[in-house]
Amino acid sequence: MKRLAISGGVPAVPKAKLVSWPILTAKDWELVTEVLKSGVLAGAFAPQVKALQAEFAEYLGVQYCIAVNSGTAALHMAVAAVGVGPGDEVITSAFSFLASATAAMHQGAIPVFVDIDPKTYNIDPQRIEERISDRTKAIIVVHIHGLPADMDEICTIAKKYNLAVIEDAAQAAGSTYKGKKVGGIGDIGAFSLNQTKNFQAGEGGLFVTNERDYWLRADMVRMFGEQIREDERRSYIAHTLGWNYRMPELTAAIARAQLARLDEINENAQRNAAILNDILKKIDGIEPPFCPPDRTHIYHKYRVRLRFDKLGVREKDTVARDKILLALQAEGVPAVLWQTFPLPANPLFQKKEGFGKGFPWSFPGARAIEYDPLEFPETIKLLNSSIVIGSEKYPVFAQSAETVELWGYAIEKVLHNLDEVMETVEVPEQEPFALGEITSLR
Ligand SMILES: Cc1ncc(COP(=O)(O)O)c(C=O)c1O
Repeated sequence: MKRLAISGGVPAVPKAKLVSWPILTAKDWELVTEVLKSGVLAGAFAPQVKALQAEFAEYLGVQYCIAVNSGTAALHMAVAAVGVGPGDEVITSAFSFLASATAAMHQGAIPVFVDIDPKTYNIDPQRIEERISDRTKAIIVVHIHGLPADMDEICTIAKKYNLAVIEDAAQAAGSTYKGKKVGGIGDIGAFSLNQTKNFQAGEGGLFVTNERDYWLRADMVRMFGEQIREDERRSYIAHTLGWNYRMPELTAAIARAQLARLDEINENAQRNAAILNDILKKIDGIEPPFCPPDRTHIYHKYRVRLRFDKLGVREKDTVARDKILLALQAEGVPAVLWQTFPLPANPLFQKKEGFGKGFPWSFPGARAIEYDPLEFPETIKLLNSSIVIGSEKYPVFAQSAETVELWGYAIEKVLHNLDEVMETVEVPEQEPFALGEITSLR
């Protein structure tokens, strides 16, 4: 095998082979130009926004869709629409992006975390019930990296305790669970159109539901508490507390153009994942992403887990992980870490500094919630020992087959020369994510 790039060899992946994201086509230009020519750049009922809402509702097979300016806004509207309020609790996964938890706080509610299933990396349904209290009102289920969570099990628990199910499908536009597109399975779905996503528009979000009441309430939150009017004119009457979460027309135009290509992008992701899976399954000690047969994955992120015992590595997990990461980067693989500790370890939760002097935790009658990051061992183990193959600029779903094949061989090259990687690459000595680090944040 060729010399490692970290030892002066030629990188396995030439930079010119990488395809950068986002990919914009003639359709984006056409729709954006249409907006510029129209002179209509914004409006709650503007034509691109309305068309996007109709097209995405049809794509998902749901009744209602509201276009907004971020995935976080869509999540907040979902939390508000199901009636969550101050002092209530909302359950979500310890492994996600921060907004899955802070969306509850935007409504004055308290996030409660649950550890992940070590195979799917999604919330572990077996551990949800132990976190439910009489203040719990909703579960925000995250389809992390594009793999649908265990919706049947989660919806059964939600029904038993009368909880709303909000799907955080920010990373999973187009993924299916038992033949149904995610986002339309629970009570409400929220999508992010942030530039890094398979379905993107720079920034933006989409709220979806089949429930008319949720739709009406969410729309008031989108726009200053105003009610939707049949004649599509604004009333300027606030019926509740609302924000300005409207999506601009240029964003909606790009989103429409991108939606037209979403299935193609997702198929490309699945083809690329299959190529990588085939190469990696021949190597002992590396686990490609798992996808149960009853669902489809759109590989927003392609995360590989390293089994250091099988790889014969004796270094600390995070040190070995970082050495492999640097060796892969030297080979030209855009490998990254995404999230390195459980969400509850963020200083926000450790210090409980929300609004003012500790709201929402300080809300009268709220249950005292403690955030001990060590209660999430599966999340910690995963994040200490895994790497995402593909970066925000060069994600797996944008690449050609040839490029991901080169990535696969680069991974093989690095893992077949692990002794050399461990000896050659220097990374700062560090503790794997552990209590010592956390207590210093308090
Ligand atoms: C899982 C998850 N939830 C929520 C969000 C928030 O979306 P946005 O950045 O559009 O507000 C993101 C992405 O940014 C995400 O990855």
